[in-house]
Amino acid sequence: MSRGKFIVIEGGEGAGKGECVTFLARVLRDRGKKVITTREPGGSSFAEEIRNLIFSEAARVHHPDPLTQLNLFAAARIEHTIQTIRPALKKGRIVLCDRGFPSTFAYQIAGEDRRDLEPHFRFIDQMSRGATWDPSKNTWSGALVPDLTVFLDVDPEVGLERADRRTTGNHFDEKELAFHRRVRDGYYEILSVVRHVIIDANQPMETVRKEALQLVSAFLRSDA
Ligand code: TMP
Repeated sequence: MSRGKFIVIEGGEGAGKGECVTFLARVLRDRGKKVITTREPGGSSFAEEIRNLIFSEAARVHHPDPLTQLNLFAAARIEHTIQTIRPALKKGRIVLCDRGFPSTFAYQIAGEDRRDLEPHFRFIDQMSRGATWDPSKNTWSGALVPDLTVFLDVDPEVGLERADRRTTGNHFDEKELAFHRRVRDGYYEILSVVRHVIIDANQPMETVRKEALQLVSAFLRSDA
């Protein structure tokens, strides 16, 4: 059986990722594709427990250092990669994932303005995506790389206003505008290392969903 496809939907607050993932999954399933939807942080039983900790009242009150956050998001990603993503890809599934490793760079490094943590990110990121260290070559190999990353690029002002209207949220939504501007810049930086497409997510959600479907369909055809 051929390996499935790993597609990550990324974007800042209020970009409409969740809606897009649900829509893409429904249309692709209607077309007979075998699809699973998942998310980060989370996506496996224990990773969801780590998610609860990340968004807990304790985390809101104690403001864990971005290095602690980096490690928590990475720990959730290890579980998610091992328990959910790799097995689904092995079964030939299309995995549609709400967020992935670019979020960690965008939020914990760029958003938090902790450039000193970039080397930590490089190291922990490889590990969290299932890479192994090859001492003979002095390098990491085998990290899980998304086949396609769809970046829903929303102006932070627009996205935060949309997020304000939602009833569910987390304490990352409460950060100042400058934080979200840095997050957006961070995405542009980290996305250059992966195959990606960018959608203007300031448009009405219906247009965003339609463009996402066109781009994902084209990718699946080209990569078949
Ligand atoms: P969401 O489920 O609504 O997308 O919220 C997830 C929040 O977690 C969002 O504010 C971004 C944040 N986040 C990070 O800060 N780093 C990460 O690595 C991931 C995956 C999410």
